[in-house]
Amino acid sequence: MSRVLMVTSEATPFVKTGGLADVLGALPPALVSIGEEVCVVIPRYGSTSLHGEDRIIHEMPLTVGPHTFTAAIDEVQREGVRYLFVDCPSLYGRSGVYNERGVDYADNHIRFAALNQAALEIARSIFTPDIFHAHDWPAGLLAPYLRETRAADSSLQSAKCVMTIHNLGYQGLFPRSHLGDIGLSPLFHPEGLEFWGQINYLKAGIVWSDAVTTVSPTYAHEMQTLEYGFGLDGVLRARASRITGILNGVDYAEWDPEHDPHVRHHYSARNLSGKRFAKQALLKELGLPLSLKRPLIGMVSRFADQKGFDLVAEIADQLAAEDLALVILGTGEARIEDALRRIAATHPERFAVHVGYDEVLAHRIEAGADMFLMPSRYEPCGLNQIYSLRYGTVPIVRSTGGLEDTVDDSTGFKFHDYSAEALLYAVRRALTAWKDRKLWRERMRRGMARDFSWTASAVEYQQLYDSIRLHSEPVLHFIPAGSDEAPSVA
Ligand code: ADP
Ligand code: GLC
Repeated sequence: MSRVLMVTSEATPFVKTGGLADVLGALPPALVSIGEEVCVVIPRYGSTSLHGEDRIIHEMPLTVGPHTFTAAIDEVQREGVRYLFVDCPSLYGRSGVYNERGVDYADNHIRFAALNQAALEIARSIFTPDIFHAHDWPAGLLAPYLRETRAADSSLQSAKCVMTIHNLGYQGLFPRSHLGDIGLSPLFHPEGLEFWGQINYLKAGIVWSDAVTTVSPTYAHEMQTLEYGFGLDGVLRARASRITGILNGVDYAEWDPEHDPHVRHHYSARNLSGKRFAKQALLKELGLPLSLKRPLIGMVSRFADQKGFDLVAEIADQLAAEDLALVILGTGEARIEDALRRIAATHPERFAVHVGYDEVLAHRIEAGADMFLMPSRYEPCGLNQIYSLRYGTVPIVRSTGGLEDTVDDSTGFKFHDYSAEALLYAVRRALTAWKDRKLWRERMRRGMARDFSWTASAVEYQQLYDSIRLHSEPVLHFIPAGSDEAPSVA
């Protein structure tokens, strides 16, 4: 049994911009159910509503470089997990998590450095962990700060650090001129915090953690390649022996067509009839023609380069010529929003584009659509294709990262090349298969029977925690790719 202190910028049901939040809402309780003790440290944003269930348990000073703040720590217990909110309005009391109207907060480097200092203060005064578990770049400075703290404080001497990469595309890059703000100047070198002249939070986490994980086995391999490495492939290759890919799970209490509170018509693999009504209700809600024979394809996604909307835009006219309808829910880059709005305006009978963040509609699309499209350029894990499997909503995916690991040819349709032609060909294969209703239902049922519940993944994390606690080897320094030198010890 380990005491695990996780650090994150998002967790459902408190705050969510993407799949990271889903993971931090579900993995901690899954770990608790197999005997771990888990505490999650997370900022309390202006938008975080704790429904009056929080208790203020502590007030603490926070020091980040030359800056000092005072934070209250609010606690909410949920499914056996202690969620500790760092309540510091001058840093977090804003409407966004990372940005507002597409513009990043200018002090993000300080906001998320402070989060990690708060986690270390919590470790000293509230919850002493065996394992620190950092998620994504906002928790990247945890490992280097821990390294500094260890030197001065014996209570955290034996604690180990795991860094989970949910998305290599977001690294927490800041100009070198911000270095003074975070107090880590001695670590600004190519084997540490420095990345092509800038400060890189994620790299720091990778370099100084005892183990690095990512959210699918295929992405664990891909992120070490030039194509997918976002410039950190060399850093990762140098640590290859400490990298594990652990597939995300699904919280079936949230995502199950038999019980989903957001949809009016429920169904199961035994009795699929409710799905027809869910589709009808969705088409009506979206203002699309009420044609149940025409397959409805769904997409729910952040509008980001990663997600393959450029391919969808490229084949929009060909798709509109097919007997299908497409609903897209998402928000993000204005460029993508505009392109999709234009497509919907050109083909209103075929495409419905809903710009915004809408939890309820996301569930209704899972239930009401017949197919689910994820043509991602890269996808560390991806959750919607796994939800789709459970909803009998056949996924059409590019075979990359977690999409490759969760969908197979018997449950969905995959294409390999990142190209509009390959995507169109995969959609056409799905449309042809749709015509054989019996075989289609069999395909749906195979997907619905797949089990991606969190317990199996939680056990893998538990094994990893156990193994690094036994290992007393110090953390290795990064060796540039292609170097013949043996790794040196920090
Ligand atoms: P990522 O983390 O890269 O955004 P994932 O597939 O792992 O991708 O997770 C995305 C999560 O966010 C899913 O739970 C999905 O339903 C949700 N989501 C994304 N965009 C929206 C939106 N516009 N409205 C509601 N939920 C959304
Ligand atoms: C990231 C990835 C996504 C993954 C999620 C949760 O945002 O883009 O693929 O499912 O994190 O791990």
